Amino acid sequence: MIDIQNLSKIYKTKSGTVTGVDNVSLTVYEGEIFGIVGYSGAGKSSLLRCINLLERPTLGTIRVDGVDLTSLKSEELRAARLKIGMIFQHFYLISQKTVYENIAFALKAANLPKNQVQKRVEDLLEMVGLSDKKDVYPSQLSGGQKQRVGIARALANDPKVLLCDEATSALDPTTTKSILNLLKKINKELNITIVLITHEMNVVKEICNRMAIMQEGRVIEEGSVYDVFASPKADLTKEFIESVVSFEIPDVILDGCEGPIVKVTFRGQVAGEGVISDMLQTFQVKGNFLHGSIEYIQDLPLGIFIMELKGKQEEIQAALTYVEKRAAQVEVLRDGI
Ligand SMILES: Nc1ncnc2c1ncn2[C@@H]1O[C@H](COP(=O)(O)OP(=O)(O)O)[C@@H](O)[C@H]1O
Ligand SMILES: [Mg+2]
Repeated sequence: MIDIQNLSKIYKTKSGTVTGVDNVSLTVYEGEIFGIVGYSGAGKSSLLRCINLLERPTLGTIRVDGVDLTSLKSEELRAARLKIGMIFQHFYLISQKTVYENIAFALKAANLPKNQVQKRVEDLLEMVGLSDKKDVYPSQLSGGQKQRVGIARALANDPKVLLCDEATSALDPTTTKSILNLLKKINKELNITIVLITHEMNVVKEICNRMAIMQEGRVIEEGSVYDVFASPKADLTKEFIESVVSFEIPDVILDGCEGPIVKVTFRGQVAGEGVISDMLQTFQVKGNFLHGSIEYIQDLPLGIFIMELKGKQEEIQAALTYVEKRAAQVEVLRDGI
């Protein structure tokens, strides 16, 4: 649905040039929710704004639904842009207009007869759960309600793609969850492809199918959210994952450990299979659990256990080989002393 090839965005400023996006290539498939994570300044917004040409790429190409946007004349581009909705962290509603008018305003470009505008706006309000707020002004709405208006407005022209720039970053956790559920519903029911950028890994874990991590304008890692959580490669990726799944063990506990400390990761079905208890029964090894959790990502379990192993070195080695054979990933965090 979205094909980005060798995209760079370089800003010219008074004090020199700033690289916003540095040679990024990415493909977002139809119907998926794709997350882009990174700290502030990583280039997420620059990349997102290039997708609908709010920002012109300095180099590279962008195809949305098969069309190379950079090749279009201004009128064609305007039409193509209607197929790409966008929502923002700070909503950008028009404060002098009611909820109804804010949404109807977005439809004006389509030149619809009045009764059709009315029907469309009412349908959209129902979709986002704000039918009762039709005649209210934005200042009377909560943050979550404002974002719902933003979403209804973005959907007004029946887009195929929805771009979300930190759409939940100004909201509290409960409201964030309800907005994410709404985005999920829109993705499923309307089959709209969603690209969302965020600095919050929990947002990605909650709703994305695939993801990319950006740092200094570049994509440093990408893959299915499950794979990235199960086997992160870059340090930054690990850091983001630890912000939602923390495995920090206090030093006093670590200092009290004598045997090697290992991290065992179980993917999918095997997470609940009792592999560790089988191992402890089969080998002359004692296990001391330091940490453990089963996370559910896209409804698939991902089990992560950290334990100290005690026993003869050969037995420990044999036990770990056994666990690895039973489809788990084993990482030695600290060798025995
Ligand atoms: N309009 C602009 N003019 C100059 N520099 C910009 C502009 N927009 C963004 N930048 C710079 O590009 C880099 C990436 O910014 P941005 O895309 O906003 O990152 P993010 O959304 O990940 O926080 C930053 O160094 C930022 O200062
Ligand atoms: Mg940004």
